[in-house]
Amino acid sequence: MALKENIQTLLAQVDQMKATSAEELESLRIKYLSKKGEITTLFNEFRTVPNDQKRELGQMLNQLRQQTETRINELKEQFEAKKAEAERLDLTRTPDPIALGTRHPLSLVREEIEDIFSRIGFTIAQGPEVEDDKHVYGMLNFAPEHPARDMQDTFFVEKEIGVQKPTDILLRSHTSSVQTRVMTSQKPPIRVLCPGRVYRNEAISARAHCFFHQVEGLYIDKNVSFADLREALLYFSKEMFGPETKIRLRPSYFPFTEPSAEMDISCNICGGTGCSFCKGTGWVEILGCGMVDPNVLEACGIDSKEYSGYAFGMGVERITNLKYRVKDLRLFSENDVRFLRQFEAC
Ligand code: PHE
Repeated sequence: MALKENIQTLLAQVDQMKATSAEELESLRIKYLSKKGEITTLFNEFRTVPNDQKRELGQMLNQLRQQTETRINELKEQFEAKKAEAERLDLTRTPDPIALGTRHPLSLVREEIEDIFSRIGFTIAQGPEVEDDKHVYGMLNFAPEHPARDMQDTFFVEKEIGVQKPTDILLRSHTSSVQTRVMTSQKPPIRVLCPGRVYRNEAISARAHCFFHQVEGLYIDKNVSFADLREALLYFSKEMFGPETKIRLRPSYFPFTEPSAEMDISCNICGGTGCSFCKGTGWVEILGCGMVDPNVLEACGIDSKEYSGYAFGMGVERITNLKYRVKDLRLFSENDVRFLRQFEAC
């Protein structure tokens, strides 16, 4: 019998009924239950059914309609629950904390050095990282064949990309270049601190990198003496590493200073008694310094008979290493937050 079979087919369909959206569900409702829907059509056919079958088929039809309605309602509830879930906002919830970064250890230390020297009258001077030979070497009394210019140390900048021609444009290998710029543009007295990034062509390892940071200082005035230099450096060392710190100056050589010295401080790790850090000597080297060579003053247009000056230069990584005992230089430029977060409280 056709009606009975139709009812059974629809029952099976309704049982499997699925919808992925509220719109799809609505079209299913229209398909089955609207005025022209399939179930409504069956009810119309039911009118013509012989009386003796009315009872059985009527029950089946009612069951079909009820089951369809129940299934549609069930699916509708599911959609509504999902929607409500998505719309539920807890306006009382405290927002997620904003992740604040930390100061980089090299910035912390550079600022501390700047702070200390600013207390004895130094101001900050800055200059370009891409420089010319004149400001980095020429005016600083480097002989034309000085090995520091060699490709080993200096990164030269190609004037035309891919064309390696002799060039006098380079990445500065020390911030003494800022000092030549200050000396040629200002009149003494000059008292400047030159912090900045410098580049040297070295293989990267725990102890060397192709770039690092320096703070150099320059003081030019009438009657500046080596004793003034020593006092300024002793003051700096005690402020930076503690009042017990001692310094010693060892003769050295730089093209731009005469006399020149390297300065050691008493090892701040063992207090000078000798440890693995200072290799048992009790001293660690932290900077180079000296009296500005008269040739440099003259090259920069300063009368070396009237003026004298001192200069010094230190590596920020080295000072940071001593202060915070960072053993591997590479950590400073890897941006590993586990390393950087250790300086949160500094
Ligand atoms: N410019 C030197 C360097 O980069 C440091 C220095 C500066 C030494 C001033 C003496 C005087 O190594």
